[in-house]
Parts: sequence; C-alpha cells; structure tokens
Amino acid sequence: MKTTLITNIKQLVGVDYYSITISKGPNMAELPTVDNAFLLIEGETIKAFGPMDSLDKDNIDYDEVIDATGRLVLPAWVDSHTHLVFAGSREGEFVDKIKGLSYEDIAKRGGGILNSAARLQHTGEEELFDAAMLRIEEIKSYGTGAVEIKSGYGLTVEDELKILRVARKVKENTNLFVKTTFLGAHSFPAQYKENREGYIDLVINEMLPRVAGEGLADYCDVFCDRGFFTVEQTSRILEKAISLNIKPRLHANQLDFSGGVQVGVKYNALSVDHLEHAGDAEIEALLGSDTMPTLLPASAFFINLDYPPARKFIEAGLPVAIASDYNPGSSPTGNMCMVVALACIKMKMLPEEAINAATINTAKALELSEQLGTIARGKVANLIITKPIPSYNYIPYAFGSNLVERTIVRGV
Ligand code: NIG
Ligand code: FE
Repeated sequence: MKTTLITNIKQLVGVDYYSITISKGPNMAELPTVDNAFLLIEGETIKAFGPMDSLDKDNIDYDEVIDATGRLVLPAWVDSHTHLVFAGSREGEFVDKIKGLSYEDIAKRGGGILNSAARLQHTGEEELFDAAMLRIEEIKSYGTGAVEIKSGYGLTVEDELKILRVARKVKENTNLFVKTTFLGAHSFPAQYKENREGYIDLVINEMLPRVAGEGLADYCDVFCDRGFFTVEQTSRILEKAISLNIKPRLHANQLDFSGGVQVGVKYNALSVDHLEHAGDAEIEALLGSDTMPTLLPASAFFINLDYPPARKFIEAGLPVAIASDYNPGSSPTGNMCMVVALACIKMKMLPEEAINAATINTAKALELSEQLGTIARGKVANLIITKPIPSYNYIPYAFGSNLVERTIVRGV
C-alpha cells in the first residue's frame, strides 16, 4: 500500500478528532486547525496528522513526500448538487436575461430546461460522456473530490436512462466519489403541456421502475416549485421512489414558497435544495428533521434571485450545506471556491461556516460523511493542497483566483 507524507503544512484546516458527520448551528463557526503540520496517508486513508514537531520521521515508512511549505491543506469539496451531464450551452438565454427576461419567462416560452432537453435528446452517449469528463477534470482542479450528478435533461424514458448511464460511466472512469440522482420530474415536456398527469404517470410507471431495475440512481429528485411540479405530484413520485428503495432529495422553494421544504421533510428527503423562499414555517419544518437545507448561491447569483437566508438557518440551530448546482441554465460553473466566496459575500456566512457547509455538510447530504468532509483519522484522504496563501479566509476573499494547487482524491 502506498504511503504519502505531507510535511510543513502551513495550516491543516478542518481537523477532527471525533470523526464528526455533521456541523450544525453555532458549531458551523468552528473549524479546528493545526499550524505547521504533517499528514500521513496510507492507501486511500488518513493515517495520522499533527504538528511537525511531533512527527517521528525516522520511525515511519513512506513512499512519497509532498512538501507543503506555505500551503494550507483542507478537506476536498463535496459538491452535493450538480446537473453536469448536459449538452451544449445556453448563453443566448443569458443575453435574453440581460435584456430583461426572467428565468421563468424563458421557461414559459419553451426555453430553459426544455431547450437543454432538446439538445440532449440529439446528442449521443459518447459525446455526453466526453463533455462530462472534461467537467469532472475542471471541478477537480477547483478542489472537488466528490460529486452528485442528476438526470433531468432527458424527459423521455430513453433519454433519462441515457443520462444516468453516462453518469454511471463517469463514475467508473474517475476516482472522484460519484452519486447519481434521477430527476425525470425536472420539467414537463411540451407534448405533455395539456396532460401533466400523463407525464407523472410516465415518471412513476415507466421511468422509475427502469431506473431502479438497472440500478442507475442512488436518489430521486423532483423540481417542486411554482410552474413546475406541485406538492401532490411530488408526493406521488417520492412514494413510488421510496417503494423502490430510492431515497428522495428535492429542488424546493427556488421560485416561491412552494411547500417543497415541508413535503421533503415529510418524506425524509436527504436534502432540500435552493430555498431562496424560506421563512419561519420552512425553518420550523426543518428543525427536528434529518433533511439538509442546501443552498445554491451561484444559481441565485446567476439568475438574480434574492439569496436564501443562510444566517437565519444557522441561528435557528440548523445545519447548512452549499453546492454548485452546475448546469447550463442557472449555474454554468462547478467552481466550489466561487460558491464558498458567494456564501460569504452574499449570504454573510463566515469562512468557517462556508467551508463546513461545502465539506462535512454536503458529505452528510450524500451519505458520505463517515468517509469524507473532515481531516479525521480513518476517513478517506480527499484533500485540497492550496497554493501559497496567507490563511483560509483568503479563499473566499480572493474570489476570482484558483488557489487550489492540487486535489488529492482517495489518497492520490
Ligand atoms: O437547479 N431549478 C431547477 N433546475 C436547475 C436549473 C435547470 C436549468 O435551468 O437548466 C436548477 O437551478
Ligand atoms: Fe439544480
């Protein structure tokens, strides 16, 4: 088994002596560190860490030494919400938005998700796979070591399966941790405009059984929001998914107080994501649940929505996660450093809170927090080594720079 010793780390960030699996409320502001540290990796596991002066170099075996002088080491990002298998791009709609159309206006005239679906339906698996792998390499260069990938741009039985097969192939061809989510209920295809129930039936009776039968998805998502899927339709889809042993997570409360948060909590969703529209009732529903409120500030930024009330969630004692929502319509970036910066600048999260939100809490939302999300003995060595920087506050501060020098995934 290969062992790697990282030495002279200016600061080891996110150390954890108890193998925590979540960070909530006031604890989110805690991000323990060790100055002038070492970290030892054995195989894919964090074997030991501590101050340099406690390192007994002569009595440990190692195959490789990485000198991290001037650099910080922190847990690699876990991006718990992306749509990174997609075809083409939508910069035309981007310009339409600059000229005054809203995200919903564009969707209503057949653009938006349906625009991406039309392109994806005419794109082969190989081309989708190649584009997705480029995005995987790109997000890794920004420090991501684990990622969730949703379908939702297929909207026919065959095309939804096509996306999930591509996502599975991505999983087989990268060392990043990958979880997949079926999102057939992302939008109603044009031919079901007057027959929405017909599309719900297709999702429930044909898509979900095929997805489950081929073991293509870890989770099932629904876009429960104004103009998209109602609470009642969401419930029916989630009940079917649960009966097939596929756990729910939701797109909720992006465009309105849609009831998405409450229905997510009711069905024990692992996460409810977006939450630009969240008040006391949503907070009340989340308290006492295991559902992770997941905020997507890059998407609120890109389509000019008010930001979710991150501070209110944290002050209520809740955990908060942040993810990229990488997709061609509302967040054409998978750069988690940028997401951390937006969380700080726009949602007033402290750097400590934002880093916890993008690591341990997103790991929790993907059921990976026993393996990932903190620097703990026995967890997997998914790590960011930064370029030489003064402190971790510098990461959101210097928001336009890529400060990641190397991303270590599963120890390599
Ligand atoms: O998470 N809100 C719904 N779905 C995506 C956007 C999809 C798109 O516009 O292509 C999101 O923002
Ligand atoms: Fe999304």
